[in-house]
Amino acid sequence: MPRVANGSIGVGLLGAGVVGSEVARALLRPTSPHFKAAGLALRRVLVRDVHRKRTGIASGLFTNDAEDVLADRETMIVVEAIGGEEPARSYISSALSAGKHVVTANKEVLAKHGDELTRTATANGVDLSYEASVGGGIPVLAVLKDSLGGNRIDTIRAIINGTTNYILTSMDDTSASFDTSLLEAQRLGFAESDPTADVGGYDAVYKLAILARLAWGRSLPPDTIYREGIEGIESKDLRYARELGFRVKLMAMATEQPEGLRCRVHPALVPADVPMASVNGVLNAVEFNGDRVGPLWLQGRGAGSGPTTSAVLGDVLRIARGIKAGWSPANANAEIAAAESNCLLSMDELEVRYYVRLSALDRSGVLAKIATVFGETQISIASVIQKDLDGTRGVADLVVMTHPAKERDMQTAVSRLRDLDVVSSLDNLIRVEDYEPLPGS
Ligand code: HSE
Repeated sequence: MPRVANGSIGVGLLGAGVVGSEVARALLRPTSPHFKAAGLALRRVLVRDVHRKRTGIASGLFTNDAEDVLADRETMIVVEAIGGEEPARSYISSALSAGKHVVTANKEVLAKHGDELTRTATANGVDLSYEASVGGGIPVLAVLKDSLGGNRIDTIRAIINGTTNYILTSMDDTSASFDTSLLEAQRLGFAESDPTADVGGYDAVYKLAILARLAWGRSLPPDTIYREGIEGIESKDLRYARELGFRVKLMAMATEQPEGLRCRVHPALVPADVPMASVNGVLNAVEFNGDRVGPLWLQGRGAGSGPTTSAVLGDVLRIARGIKAGWSPANANAEIAAAESNCLLSMDELEVRYYVRLSALDRSGVLAKIATVFGETQISIASVIQKDLDGTRGVADLVVMTHPAKERDMQTAVSRLRDLDVVSSLDNLIRVEDYEPLPGS
């Protein structure tokens, strides 16, 4: 078993990218009084290229052999800052099996392998902490599993992807296209060169799976969660939504209902007068509703090396204090309910209002045909507005807002609308997230 050497607690670091390097520097030159008192010693840092200079980190700490970290007897805490699925998952598993506590920011590994890794941690009497995996610097997991541990959570609603929130905010502010806003986000370092995980909603799904596991102790394989990204949103959708009193956000939502959990990630129209609508740029926000605490709101920087390192350091510090106090870690939800295919409710029964944007011929009788489809699929129309007209093609944008309708009926309506000769394209379907504003907002 790893041991405390010379009164200090050894920390091994896997990865020295932007987050890993900042963690290393914080361990080598602590600035917070808590960290100064913690007695932590950085022992080795796993990197690919040991010859590359990293400001403020002595090159003698670098190794390209993972065993120098994973098998070091004096390393008690391993910080995984490599990211991606492999080899991060294997390294975390090896570290836990070797009796080392692990801190990670890796949402993909936690979402896909969190159950197994939690069991390995518990079997080896060590802690697996991953505060930085959701919401960057916002202490969202600690609040959920510790501070709110006496509540039954019924709702989680969140903006948990900074990249997409930045892109949507920029499209809304400047009327730029999705492609232009994505390029700008990449230029500023807010979006990855391969943006698929973020813009496709996968990153938000991983984070929602982690939140749901902690809230409800259910294993939710990420590919079972309903997902839509923001690739199909056009700046005109943001403009029309604004005129109707909404903003468009990529929302991650989970609700517990008597018959199961409903979890989904998709763009949503959020009423402009609720706090979620004002969460802009790279900010994240998470809202819980607990039976005792009521609605709770957390907001902050959800990405970037500073906020992520802040969350990693908090986990390291808590573990270090625990080691000194001789505590036995209790990993949250170690006994996860096995993946239940029937615990997730299908989208078919979801009942919300919808925004439907279509291009239709601008001539008499068109609205009647469209209204007939809605009528025959039991969907009640709340309003129809005709927007931008393309005179050369003789088509106009029609935006239909519905009353609450079942998703199943709406999908039937969408396919029938697409077949109408007067509809040249059905361009967007966005669900409305209606909810009571938080008290005091
Ligand atoms: N790619 C993530 C985001 C940041 O855009 O929010 C790290 O979780």
